[in-house]
Amino acid sequence: MISQCLKRRDSICGLSLSPMRMTFQRLAGAPDVADTILSIPHPYKYGMAEKWIGGHQFAFKNGTDVHFTVVKNDGNDLVGAISLMRVDQTHVHAKLGYLIGVPFWNRGFCTEAANAVLSYAFDELNLNRVWAHHVTRNPASGRVMQKIGMQHEGCLRKHIRKASVFEDIEAYGILRSEWKTSAPQSSPATKTVRQTRL
Ligand SMILES: CC(C)(COP(=O)(O)OP(=O)(O)OC[C@H]1O[C@@H](n2cnc3c(N)ncnc32)[C@H](O)[C@@H]1OP(=O)(O)O)[C@@H](O)C(=O)NCCC(=O)NCCS
Repeated sequence: MISQCLKRRDSICGLSLSPMRMTFQRLAGAPDVADTILSIPHPYKYGMAEKWIGGHQFAFKNGTDVHFTVVKNDGNDLVGAISLMRVDQTHVHAKLGYLIGVPFWNRGFCTEAANAVLSYAFDELNLNRVWAHHVTRNPASGRVMQKIGMQHEGCLRKHIRKASVFEDIEAYGILRSEWKTSAPQSSPATKTVRQTRL
């Protein structure tokens, strides 16, 4: 999927971006997406997506991060991205993070993708724990974490600073022992997503 997209290259502002990368640049650059992700600034300038994606292969080879695209099964539409980051073999855990493009919100895409990535984390990487954080004012992300069986583990008060404002963070986690029993699997009606490594 990715390799096919990389065959066609377009040029913008002197940068070479594949169509999929340009779509990602657009999705991640939406103010409503950048607003609740610490690592995404707004404006999300051309080249930032390239730089982020450019580090993925090294991180994957190093075993620290695994990044996936979320793509609709009924076409090639890029819906978003989802990642396991900070994979730590000492503690056998990793951080889950995701973003879905605004036009695709509230259609179950993130929940389905996150379920698939948890399966990868526990069944393929044999992790013991997956954890995630969201800013308190982003209840949709918390709802996704709840729907995939993560437990709310507490509030980290004023833990981050985004655009000069200190913000509270909600901490979630799921253990390997809880995964098969607690995680609701996606319904056939929402089987419209597949994950592809960036
Ligand atoms: C958070 C995000 C990934 C969710 O993606 P999504 O594909 O819309 O998620 P889903 O459709 O699988 O589930 C969303 C759930 O949140 C609920 N929800 C949406 N807005 C909500 C709100 N304001 N308050 C409470 N729940 C809300 C939806 O109703 C749905 O729950 P339900 O199935 O019980 O009805 C998406 O909004 C996003 O990318 N936001 C910007 C980036 C971001 O915040 N990433 C997460 C950083 S931790």
